Amino acid sequence: MESLRRFSFVSFIALLAYFAFLASAELHVRKFVIEPKPVKRLCRTHQSITVNGQFPGPTLEVRNGDSVAITVINRARYNISIHWHGLRQLRNPWADGPEYITQCPIRPEQSYTYRFTIEDQEGTLWWHAHSRWLRATVYGALIIYPRLGSPYPFSMPKRDIPILLGEWWDRNPMDVLRQAQFTGAAANVSDAYTINGQPGDLYRCSRSETMRFPIFPGETVQLRVINAAMNQELFFSVANHQLTVVETDSAYTKPFTTNVIMVGPGQTTNVLLTANQRPGRYYMAARAYNSANAPFDNTTTTAIFEYVNAPTRRGRGRGQIAPVFPVLPGFNDTATATAFTNRLRYWKQAPVPLQIDENLFFTVGLGLINCTNPNSPRCQGPNGTRFAASMNNMSFVLPRRNSVMQAYYQGMPGIFTTDFPPVPPVQFDYTGNVSRGLWQPVKGTKAYKLKYKANVQIILQDTSIVTLENHPMHLHGYQFYVVGSGFGNFNPRTDPARFNLFDPPERNTIGTPPGGWVAIRFVADNPGAWFMHCHIDSHLGWGLAMVFLVENGRGQLQSVQPPPLDLPRC
Ligand code: C2O
Repeated sequence: MESLRRFSFVSFIALLAYFAFLASAELHVRKFVIEPKPVKRLCRTHQSITVNGQFPGPTLEVRNGDSVAITVINRARYNISIHWHGLRQLRNPWADGPEYITQCPIRPEQSYTYRFTIEDQEGTLWWHAHSRWLRATVYGALIIYPRLGSPYPFSMPKRDIPILLGEWWDRNPMDVLRQAQFTGAAANVSDAYTINGQPGDLYRCSRSETMRFPIFPGETVQLRVINAAMNQELFFSVANHQLTVVETDSAYTKPFTTNVIMVGPGQTTNVLLTANQRPGRYYMAARAYNSANAPFDNTTTTAIFEYVNAPTRRGRGRGQIAPVFPVLPGFNDTATATAFTNRLRYWKQAPVPLQIDENLFFTVGLGLINCTNPNSPRCQGPNGTRFAASMNNMSFVLPRRNSVMQAYYQGMPGIFTTDFPPVPPVQFDYTGNVSRGLWQPVKGTKAYKLKYKANVQIILQDTSIVTLENHPMHLHGYQFYVVGSGFGNFNPRTDPARFNLFDPPERNTIGTPPGGWVAIRFVADNPGAWFMHCHIDSHLGWGLAMVFLVENGRGQLQSVQPPPLDLPRC
């Protein structure tokens, strides 16, 4: 009797705790109105496409376990879709967002409600348009706090500052894209980088709007650095202050300190910074890490940390003292970029898959399409060609009549094929002197099928075709472990022995070392059509992409949910 009473008391408490847990999960209902808005930068005003008139767009703040319903209302003249970059969207590809992959775009004057739940994720992610070049201005931070009462693995500062690094054209970005698509040449490089939408002191007509962050002496703050730039890896540094890295792509890391971080497009990096220097004003700055033999925007964006007790100048030239400028690596400093990336470690032992079911090898790189009419208006690329890019020589073409996911779900033929090659169709010295006959990829819409719960390893091998380059490769619907990387061609006999299978960093986007390879592993436990592509938008447009089709497992809990009724019509 006594023990029964004790049992029911214990189960009553457990039940209460369970209800408290349920009650703590929130539903966030939001409206994202896509609309043009005058935005003045670099002395000129453009009608930029924005969310709710804001540039950058609104920050989405949620907790692990919360649900979200965001109604996107398209009041712009372009088709659009929104992607929640890094969110797993378990069994729910319908909310992922890439146009013609998981949905058809939202047409002007139409709307679509993205409904999803955050399942076992916390940290810094972001959202952005996933339609042509609209993400140049349509992006914002997505911050996931731990569940109530769930601790951080480090001492979390009270103050948290999102730092969105962006890229600005003194033109309509959609026109920049249109021109490049017509000529076949590379798109014009940007005119500025931005921090939270502002170029900073080093650009014309920008000084009065430079972002300033007051800081108290002795205070520690967390910076959530998000690279939302279209086409450029960036170095980021703060004058005189060390940065302690604690998280990348919504996964905690073993903390380490550094003077500079490198963030590729799509990646996020959280750092802690302590105001332990002489009271004053200090620049934070970002500029290009350019690994390719290609033109790039070589300007520098800045914002200012201002100690609240910073001295002011007296007498003539009264006012604020000039900020200290940080030391940034050279534009082509691959050694610094690599050294930084190689220091990243998962914060604890990681459940890395050890038995591999799918051993994939993908070449990643640029290419050139030969023209029957070289140097004609539509063939303005190198030697009268058109630029292309590919994975395993397949240059990805977005379908137009339907999305891959819908075609797959409805069993509609003719939209895509499932013969994406698991290894390069031709083997060659990938990083050597590649013969011209291998420079032209094949166009197609090809997917690769994975069995539910397959253990997958992919070697992403950069090629030297056109140029060696760091390609920030992003996988939708998954987080993966980065178990190894190196320069030159991957050697299957010697390289796997050096893999880190203990605490490799977990990410959703990883750069191939220029002229090198990177190895990733994940378990294919999320059914659906998931895009994998280079997060450099120029390269994505040229076809540097493929799709994984992950099959359903057994029963409802291992299968894709039915599509929502308001999914945009194709
Ligand atoms: Cu952040 Cu497919 O993109």
